[in-house]
Amino acid sequence: MLRTHNCGELNIKHINQEVALSGWVQRSRDLGGMTFIDLRDRYGITQLAFNMETQPELCLQARKLGREYVIQVHGKVAERESKNLKIATGDIEIIVGEFKLLNASKTPPFTIENETDGGEEIRMKYRYLDLRRNPLKENLLLRNKLSFEVRSYLHGIDFVEVETPYLIKSTPEGARDFVVPSRMNPGTFYALPQSPQTFKQLLMVSGYDRYYQLVKCFRDEDLRADRQPEFTQIDCEMSFIEQEDILTTFEGLTSHLFLKVKGIELGSFPRMQYDDAMRLYGSDKPDIRFGMPFVELNDLAQNKGFSIFDEAELVVGFCAKGAASFTRKDLDGLTEWVRRPQIGAKGMVYVKYNEDGSLKSSVDKFYSEADLKLWAERMEATPGDLMLILSGGVDKIRKALGELRLEMGNRLNLRNRSTYAPLWVVDFPLLEWDEDSQRYHAMHHPFTSPKPNEMHLLDTDPGKVHANAYDLVINGVEIGGGSIRIFDKDVQARMFSLLGFSDEDAKSQFGFLMNAFEYGAPPHGGIALGFDRLVAMFGGSDSIRDYIAFPKNNSGQDVMIASPSIISEAQLKELNLEVKIQN
Ligand code: AMO
Repeated sequence: MLRTHNCGELNIKHINQEVALSGWVQRSRDLGGMTFIDLRDRYGITQLAFNMETQPELCLQARKLGREYVIQVHGKVAERESKNLKIATGDIEIIVGEFKLLNASKTPPFTIENETDGGEEIRMKYRYLDLRRNPLKENLLLRNKLSFEVRSYLHGIDFVEVETPYLIKSTPEGARDFVVPSRMNPGTFYALPQSPQTFKQLLMVSGYDRYYQLVKCFRDEDLRADRQPEFTQIDCEMSFIEQEDILTTFEGLTSHLFLKVKGIELGSFPRMQYDDAMRLYGSDKPDIRFGMPFVELNDLAQNKGFSIFDEAELVVGFCAKGAASFTRKDLDGLTEWVRRPQIGAKGMVYVKYNEDGSLKSSVDKFYSEADLKLWAERMEATPGDLMLILSGGVDKIRKALGELRLEMGNRLNLRNRSTYAPLWVVDFPLLEWDEDSQRYHAMHHPFTSPKPNEMHLLDTDPGKVHANAYDLVINGVEIGGGSIRIFDKDVQARMFSLLGFSDEDAKSQFGFLMNAFEYGAPPHGGIALGFDRLVAMFGGSDSIRDYIAFPKNNSGQDVMIASPSIISEAQLKELNLEVKIQN
């Protein structure tokens, strides 16, 4: 038997027991008369003790063991003289009787400790070693706990997990597809699913009225901290339901996860219409851990001789409570911050509501104190507060002010990682106008149903139509999104035509779905939660990479296996591909 126990489970109750342990040498310490080795496995660390006086031979051999050597030991559990309260096995040690070297190890390229000396790149190259470290191990165990709880909850309410294929045909989710050449069908390609969207809808036609799947999705898009080219969704679909049923069910799932994994009761999730989210927070995923809603000032601030405001479509700001203490330098810094190309504002106006009740602004030349008082009243500002105001085109300036609001939230420490503020954003627009292609695009995807009472606008004013589409947002992160679907063939055909598909294109790309709709499709809808984002949120991080065992870097590469890579001429030929590489 290679082990009777693991390295995390022995304690005072096991004193005097003969045990066998196996694991990796974390570190060793020679104290002259004694040698101590910390033996590590997935479960923890146990101290091994070798006595130079009683077992000189064994002790000398133990001193030769390097970091990360794999050994097996037999010995007796003893109470430690100096206890380590930080670890579960800290009361005991093993007085080793014999040990066996199972495998030696090269010196690892970075130390396998909680705080490592290895940079990001080297750790990605040796990911299997990085995964030995506690922080990453905890992340993977957290992921495992969450996936178990997801399955358990959904299983408990009659959802069935069905796997859908990975070699499919393009699904339009808005990103580029990864494609795979078909050897057996020369000149043709599979696409890897951006999501199982069409398949889960077909499963509804087949009668599996509560479907879910923890499923890999593939999207060839620009990568960020919260985006990987392959990521995992908790993908769900339900039949004979309305939007309310979906929101209730997935509020239930999310609350269950927070309760089981974090011991936090979330209460019921507030809801906000998309139009309000944009108007009040400049974002379709507002962070509602803190206030600072936008207040529009056009009527108060225009026509007073300040041409920048006069020419703007929108003058809008928010009140940062208690921030009047920001210095001139802080405010100049913020102005520079909003001027950066990523934010894109031309400038920023501030008004300080001083503790003595006086008002001081960066545009005193144009506005009297009485004018500024009116702004303050509208913004519900009181002495000690700071008002920040931007102006410009509606969409652009709302977005910029939204970013500034988040930045102020950070600077004022209002975005506490251990506070969770979930929110349903509902009633998304059905379509969005794309300037480049001069046509409408589906805001969610083409299978999303228009709101029945706005159906008549489809012909006259399609941009005004809203959808039964919703996002689950937590702390300003889009955790999931979904919609009630079109289940009528004619409405679906009309939708494709609005999106600029010819009849032929629609038929060749989605004929299978339209055909299926002719055989008794039930009303249905669903949602997909980004599992990696959810896990990272539970772990208190914005970066999903640390919660994926083998992620890609920001260039979409796996530097450990050196992928993507070129393939041989023979392989290319077999796949009927001819690649010309130009230097
Ligand atoms: P959507 O495209 O909104 O909806 O995706 C659902 C959720 O998946 C997560 N997500 C990602 N996570 C990591 N890396 C990525 N590249 C990435 N892209 C998306 C987000 C997002 O909210 N088929 C629809 C769902 C439906 O209508 O039921 C869909 O895929 O958290």
